[in-house]
Amino acid sequence: MTSVNDLRSSFVGYFASNGHEPVASSPLVPRNDPTLMFTNAGMVQFKNVFTGVEKRPYSTAATAQKCVRAGGKHNDLDNVGFTARHHTFFEMLGNFSFGDYFKDQAIELAWNLLTKDWALPRDKLMVTVYEDDDEAMELWKKIAGLSEDRIVRLGAKSNFWQMGDTGPCGPCSEIFYDHGDKVWGGPPGSPEEDGDRWIEIWNLVFMQYEQHPDGSRTGLPRPSIDTGMGLERIAAVMQGVHDNYDIDLFKALIGAAANATHADVNGPGNRSLRVIADHLRSMSFLIAEGVLPSNEGRGYVLRRIMRRAMRHATLLGANEPVIHKLVPTLVREMGQAYPELSRGEAMIAETVRLEEGRFLKTLGRGLQILESETAALGEGAVLDGATAFKLYDTYGFPLDLTQDALRSRNISVDQAGFDAAMAQQKAEARKNWAGSGEAATDTVWYGLADKLGPTEFLGYETETAEGEIKALLVDGAEVDAIDAGQDGIVVVNQTPFYGESGGQVGDSGVIKGEGIAADVLDTGKHHGVFAHKVKVTEGTLKRGQAVELLVDHGRRSSIRANHSATHLLHEALRLVLGDHVAQKGSLVSADRLRFDFVHTKPMTPQEMAEVEDIANTIILQNTPVETRLMGVEEAKESGARALFGEKYGDEVRVVSMGEPTGNGLGWSVELCGGTHVRRTGDIGLVSVVAEGAVAAGVRRIEALTGHAARHRGNANTNIVASAAGLLRSGPHDVLDRIEALQGQLKSAEKALADARQKLALGGGGERAGASETVNGVTFVGRVVEGVAAKDIKSVVDAEKKRVGSGIVVMVLKGEDGKGTVAIGVTEDLTSRYAAGTLIKSATAALGGQGGGGRPDMAQGGGPDGSKADDAIAAIRALL
Ligand code: SER
Repeated sequence: MTSVNDLRSSFVGYFASNGHEPVASSPLVPRNDPTLMFTNAGMVQFKNVFTGVEKRPYSTAATAQKCVRAGGKHNDLDNVGFTARHHTFFEMLGNFSFGDYFKDQAIELAWNLLTKDWALPRDKLMVTVYEDDDEAMELWKKIAGLSEDRIVRLGAKSNFWQMGDTGPCGPCSEIFYDHGDKVWGGPPGSPEEDGDRWIEIWNLVFMQYEQHPDGSRTGLPRPSIDTGMGLERIAAVMQGVHDNYDIDLFKALIGAAANATHADVNGPGNRSLRVIADHLRSMSFLIAEGVLPSNEGRGYVLRRIMRRAMRHATLLGANEPVIHKLVPTLVREMGQAYPELSRGEAMIAETVRLEEGRFLKTLGRGLQILESETAALGEGAVLDGATAFKLYDTYGFPLDLTQDALRSRNISVDQAGFDAAMAQQKAEARKNWAGSGEAATDTVWYGLADKLGPTEFLGYETETAEGEIKALLVDGAEVDAIDAGQDGIVVVNQTPFYGESGGQVGDSGVIKGEGIAADVLDTGKHHGVFAHKVKVTEGTLKRGQAVELLVDHGRRSSIRANHSATHLLHEALRLVLGDHVAQKGSLVSADRLRFDFVHTKPMTPQEMAEVEDIANTIILQNTPVETRLMGVEEAKESGARALFGEKYGDEVRVVSMGEPTGNGLGWSVELCGGTHVRRTGDIGLVSVVAEGAVAAGVRRIEALTGHAARHRGNANTNIVASAAGLLRSGPHDVLDRIEALQGQLKSAEKALADARQKLALGGGGERAGASETVNGVTFVGRVVEGVAAKDIKSVVDAEKKRVGSGIVVMVLKGEDGKGTVAIGVTEDLTSRYAAGTLIKSATAALGGQGGGGRPDMAQGGGPDGSKADDAIAAIRALL
């Protein structure tokens, strides 16, 4: 038997040996199309190559592309479980020519693979062509030798392919396989064509046109080829089964589901097993790409798929989470072809388990309500919209789950009533908000949020994506266009730009489109709507345009590193300083991080070093940084750190890093909506550069990571090296040299003071005036300079000793222009003259007042040192 895995490699191998480049599957969340919810065909990743906007180094390619058709133009969610061939997730095998070969070679390659390499009997194959495509008709006759009755002409409905409302498109030709007369149905174009006997296995699209949003269609630069073959369908053919769900891959998944739920594979629960097996694939692949269940956009489609699978598990009697247990089987089956599954296995299983736990809490109660509300309804009845809305709003039942649950009883749901109930709830919320009297600019944003819904943030997984311009603002008011040279704000439906929140700054980068370009200077976030603050540099931005959004990668990388490092420092601080360390605020920017926390005293250098060591140890562990989605309570119970007083939604992202200690989720676990590194090692290193107080009981540290930390380290090393150069020592001797120099400086200063003192005492000459006798008393009055004010008293003392009996006045003219005076009176004269009294006249002469001291010694001063001689004269006059 040819397994699914063999077929996949056989297909790509065949085209590779025919000169095609084997190209890996692109992500399910398209990066290059703002209108598509999920990649729904193999050609999606080549869309811009067909239109000539993007160039690749090859002109032909082959892929096995993962696809999801659950939401948007191609949506198969409701059919899964009810047919043999519908899937929400499937793989499309395809070969592509970008202006290289066209119809003839495409037909030849396809026919040879099917009938030669894979040896399918020719008489089991039939083809269709677009109604007026005579060329294709002739080619099939010539190349495949098919007779005209095996070639059916069909109209645009079945034989004109387009990806979505816009994009490349063209007439197509489909190859059908006959599963034999045991199955009911007829060939394409016949009245029985909807039966399951004749199955389309391969679609060859002759890409010739591009469909534009305004409805017009233009020719592609060069005719191209896009083919698509459902891997599951061809596997059924090659494995000789009629039903896709009977191929090896699905047998394994259904078997695992049956085991986990104790259901009988062939019993009445078979439909539920199929639903579970199908949905397991889409949920796992989406989660592997970072999509998490939520109440908006893609996250909500994922949630719908997950919850639908979960209801089917309960239908099989499971009351406990079981679907997450099937992830290892899926990884065994598909992990080799899609390594992202193997890498993400643990996270996928856990995300599924958490969602199961969350939904099981309300599922039983919701089902009871559904039961009692519909008990009286017969076949063909309609469930009222209000009940369906209550199930949605209170019990987490997506509308399609309710519809699915009632489908087997042929009861439908009043969708208009459901929509009305939803609209009323929104109106209620709007009314309450309008009453809160927010500022005018906020009103604009609330209005946009109401009108457009929240912007879908793609930036956890990618830094480039396409988005569609939904609104433009200049000076706070909505406009239709922003011209080159103008500043304004751009709102798109989806963006990789992070909007400032939770302490992390907004992203910057560029927005580009055909003939348009704008610098994104900053990104904000208001009521869930992302505001790209731009300066338009080229062309005119208009509402409705598709644009490419490119985040400044270098800057974002630094922001990621700083944010992850903040978490590590937080935990390290707690370990070193104690459990009282609670976050008080943080700033995560590209060039540094700042973290404020509760702590009453300055950190010691040892504590800082310890914190830094611990954080760097976790960085060097280089473990993956993991994000989970959890209920707030559940998250807090798991020990995740949350900001006290912060308002969180019902569900939060929980970011963990470092090897778990004990049975925790990780070494550091925090509620956080920010962007982080993939592995802790991506931080490089963290270095704490400052610590200080911000408020009573709140400290702040600042730190650098990666290159910034390294550059600072290098700069410091250079300073030390230069210092060593100046000191003529090695870098390690710098401290000893400085200490020695400080010692030398101190003795030199002391020697200098002594010398100046001596000079003041008359050793040096020029102002050393001799003593005189005034009124029978020896009087020495001298103006000195260059002596420290604190030393002047000792100069006076020394002079007193020298004269034996007398009065000594020294006035210091300071460098600052002020005067300091000291007066000494020898013991024998203190009964006649008190220094403390005399001083007042001297300070008065210097423009000051007061001064004081003992009878034998007093000191004072005044602002005007130039009056030094007057001060001496004033004392002389008093004697
Ligand atoms: N794009 C076409 C399809 O999806 C052929 O690959 O059917």
